[in-house]
Formats: sequence, C-alpha cells, structure tokens
Amino acid sequence: MQAPPLGRITGRDSTKLHFRLSPGEDVALGEIVAADDRARRTIFLLRVVNVEYGYEGEYEKWEERTAGKMLHHDRMGETFEVTEKERRLYKIGVCAPLGCVGEGGFRKAKRVPSHFTEVRKASAEDLAFLSLHMGDLEIGHLRSGEDVIPLPVGISGKAFAHHVGVFATTGMGKSNLMKCLAASAMKSGRHGLLLLDPHGEYYDGGGESEKKGLRDSPHAASRLTVYTMRNVPSAHSKIKVSAYEVQLEDIKELMEFSDAQRETLDLAWSTFGEEWLVTLYRKDIASLIQEIRAATKREFRESTVGIVKSRVSRLFGAPRKGAKKGGATREGLLSEDRGLSITGAIISKLHSGGVVLVDTSSLYEFEELLVSVVLARAILDQSKEAYGDPEEFGKIPEVMIAFEEAQRVLRKKRPGDEKVPDTIFARIAREGRKFKVGICAVSQQPKLIEPEVISQFNTLFVLGLADRMDRAILEEGAKQDLATMENEIQSLMPGEAIVSSPYTPFALPLMVHRYEEFLTSLKELAGPTLASTRNGAADGTETRRDPGFYA
Ligand SMILES: Nc1ncnc2c1ncn2[C@@H]1O[C@H](COP(=O)(O)OP(=O)(O)O)[C@@H](O)[C@H]1O
Ligand SMILES: [Mg+2]
Repeated sequence: MQAPPLGRITGRDSTKLHFRLSPGEDVALGEIVAADDRARRTIFLLRVVNVEYGYEGEYEKWEERTAGKMLHHDRMGETFEVTEKERRLYKIGVCAPLGCVGEGGFRKAKRVPSHFTEVRKASAEDLAFLSLHMGDLEIGHLRSGEDVIPLPVGISGKAFAHHVGVFATTGMGKSNLMKCLAASAMKSGRHGLLLLDPHGEYYDGGGESEKKGLRDSPHAASRLTVYTMRNVPSAHSKIKVSAYEVQLEDIKELMEFSDAQRETLDLAWSTFGEEWLVTLYRKDIASLIQEIRAATKREFRESTVGIVKSRVSRLFGAPRKGAKKGGATREGLLSEDRGLSITGAIISKLHSGGVVLVDTSSLYEFEELLVSVVLARAILDQSKEAYGDPEEFGKIPEVMIAFEEAQRVLRKKRPGDEKVPDTIFARIAREGRKFKVGICAVSQQPKLIEPEVISQFNTLFVLGLADRMDRAILEEGAKQDLATMENEIQSLMPGEAIVSSPYTPFALPLMVHRYEEFLTSLKELAGPTLASTRNGAADGTETRRDPGFYA
C-alpha cells in the first residue's frame, strides 16, 4: 500500500489554497508542498503561509465545549478521551500558490488543482528547475520550512550592480551570510567585492576561537586584500587616504560644525581648492585668516579657525581610541602625499575580480565613514570614466560595495531634508547599475533607510526580523510578494532566510551555510558546491550562462 498523502486540497481560490492534513501529519510555516494533479500531469507548488485548526463537531462551538468537558474531568482527576479523534480533529494548511511544474517547465499557476488533489512534501526533484536560476555565488541551501533541501542557492555576480540588501535583527545571521558571499566571490574571482567592516569581525571572525574569517578561505591567498589599522598576522596594508581626495561635502557631512565653522570650511575650500585640508593642517592660524581674507574679503575669528584647524588636524594624526587627552597618538587617516592613497590599489584589485576587506574597526566613526565615502566615490568615478570607452568598460567586472550599519549612510529623508544632498551611497543606489557599481546594504533597521533606496535593491536577503515596521518597509520595496510570507519571516531562526529577486520565479527560502562549515566544503573541492554540481569546474572560473529576469 502506498504511504498516505500529507493531505488533500479542500478548496478556496486561485490566490489561496487550503488542504486538510492527514491524521498525525504536520507542516511548518514556509514549507513548500506539492499538489500532484495527476489527471492534468501538473504539479502545483504551494507555500504554507498559515496553519489553522479544524474540527468536525456535532454542534456549534463543539470544540470549546469539548475543551470545557476535558477541563472538568482534569479537575476531578479523571481522563476524557475524544472519540474518533482522527476523524474529528485535523489541521488545515493555508497556502499561497507559487506556480506549476509540468511538461513545459515552470510557469505561474493560472488554474487551481482539481478537488481533493493529494498534497505531499515537495522533493528536491520537484524544485530542481530552480537551479537554472541560481547564480554562481553560493550562499546556502534551499529550505522548506525547517527542512533543508540539498539544492544550492546563490546569487549571480551580475546582481552585484543591481544592489543587494541584507536585513535582520542582530544575531540572526547577517555577518555570517556576508562571509559566505565573500568566500564565494573569492572562489569565483570574476566580480569585485569591497567589504567595509566597522565591527572588525570579517578578517578573523572577531577573535572568537570557534569562528573563522575571510583569511581562512582557501582562496584568500590569491584573492583577498586586507586593509586595516590593526596589527594582524597576515599580509595587509594600512588604511591611508590622500588629503587631496577629500572634498568639502565629505567633511561637512561627517562632522558637526557651527555655522561660523562651516563658513570657514566653505571659504577654505574655495580659496585653496584641493589643497584645502593640507593648508588648514600646515599653516598657522594667522596666515590662514590672512589668506582667506585676501581671497574672499571675509574676516574670521581666531577661535573659529583654530577649532576647524584642530579638528582637521586630527585626521592627519589622531589620538588613540580610548587614550586620555594628550596621550598616545596614532598615525592619522589622511596623508599629505598625493600619491599615497589606497583608492587606486583597491580599485585595481576589485577590477581584477578580487575581494577587498577594509577593516575600519579601530577608527573613529567619522574616519571610518570618511574612508567609505572616499572609496565609494572613487569607484563610481572610475567606472563612469571607463564607461566612455566601451572596450575598456567591457573589461571591468561588476563591483559591489558592502557595508554594515547601512542605515547610517542611507538615512530616510525627513521633511525639510529635500535640499540635503544624497550621500554617495544613495547616489550609487540610484545610478550605479549603469556603471556596473552596486551597493550591498547590511542593516538591522531597514525602517531607517530611505524607502526609495530600498526599492532600488534587486536582491533582498531577509533573515529574522522582529520589528513589524522593518518588515513592512521591505515588503513595500521587494521585487516579489513578501507580504504573504509575513508569518514565516517572523518565525525565522538564525541562518534561515528568504531571498527575493527578479532572477528567481518566486522568493526563495534558504538556509544560509554556517560559514565555518562552508569553508570546510570549499576546501574539499569535490564537495557539492554550486560550481561542481553545475559545470564540474572546481575553481568556479568557467563562464556560466546568466540567469534571466523573471520580474
Ligand atoms: N547560517 C547559520 N547557520 C547556523 N548558525 C548561524 C547561521 N547564521 C548565524 N548563525 C548563528 O547566529 C549567530 C549570530 O550570527 P551573526 O552572523 O553574527 O548575526 P548578525 O550579524 O545578524 O548579528 C552566529 O554566531 C551563529 O551562532
Ligand atoms: Mg553582524
């Protein structure tokens, strides 16, 4: 005898399908089930979006009255058994239809399954068609509710230029996901990925012994470049930016100044041009006042110029984080040397398909943001320049700039902010794709991010998000329907995610690899990673066909 089905379709309509579960069977939110319409040789794939109770009672409120009887017996120390339990008590799986798989492959469902169609758990075979739509950068396995289905899920490097968002409450697995993405990017070697790490957790896993970092990737030696101010054992360079690369807006945006101080900055910029910071740093206060006066006819107080000068000077030689006033200083971020900057070297690494990690964890926040802004602008500018020359532009790969705490630089505009210029990151979100430059915003509070920017993200990874407002913002901006997955998103455990993009026929549930385990499988080259299951090449450098768009 064949095993009984998981359940049978009971009805509803083309937007929601209900099925009654067999006695003793159970389903979880987010599980993908298959309604096998054998008569039509079609398999309907359905996503469980809710689970309800059902009863066959003889009279109204039978279930409540039965519970009342049970409670009464409980008080008396007696047991009460519901007769014909298997017939009378059941559960209903409420499903959103995903589509059908039939002879012509996968398509959206325009019909409903026949009455009482048998429902079973979807198998890896049912879902195998999805592997046609996966990119070359593996991140996890397909998931169905709490079950892991051994089909690799990833994104294409082409998606880098179309922006990616990674959103989850703290502890739900954002950093782990980013490390998996970086390891896959290193393996592929075909796309540039810049990681800005303010928490210092990507290089070696943040110092916890059981955690690993990017340096542990088997491809790190050839494809990872590290910039940091920390003392780390492997090859790395110091973070340095030439003072000539810093523009007026950068400083005004990142530090708080009084009106008089802002005016001093404006006029220093217009008087000294690109030498403005070096001049503010090197010249004494009296000469600064005199030179600005000569150029602009404006008079400044010594104290105002003094404050501006001392704050700018800290960028050339900063007090150590946590050190007392007048205590130890460390080398500053800015260099007076025009040629001494990391931007050129970083861009060339990215353009040769490398992963670049800039660990800004020992910098002050404004220094960290300054490096990020200068790098992002340089990357966009260089790609824009290359755009004019189709041959040169054709050679450069997609580059993505990933940063944690993205809400800081993609802030939602408030009334009155209309005149505030966009940050370079918001600009890239808007215009970067044409120039093959994208951003990857990682944040625990998407509700603080400008919604228009979120709508520019083609790929959204949503992990467990506790806050309703955060979920609502993503549902608005996503390229696929996430609203029906609200219940599931609320119940996601660490590492359980949903990826929504126009490249797959529906938003996919995935179990992100635990980074440490993923490294082990990358090291055993024969392991079932994306590259080996697809074209057989172990280093992933082969060309693979691009996944098409769905949305
Ligand atoms: N894919 C996963 N598989 C297993 N455990 C995970 C996974 N992702 C995260 N975790 C667990 O959750 C913890 C927090 O993950 P982390 O990536 O640091 O979260 P976040 O960056 O969102 O705060 C990890 O230390 C790990 O124990
Ligand atoms: Mg984190």
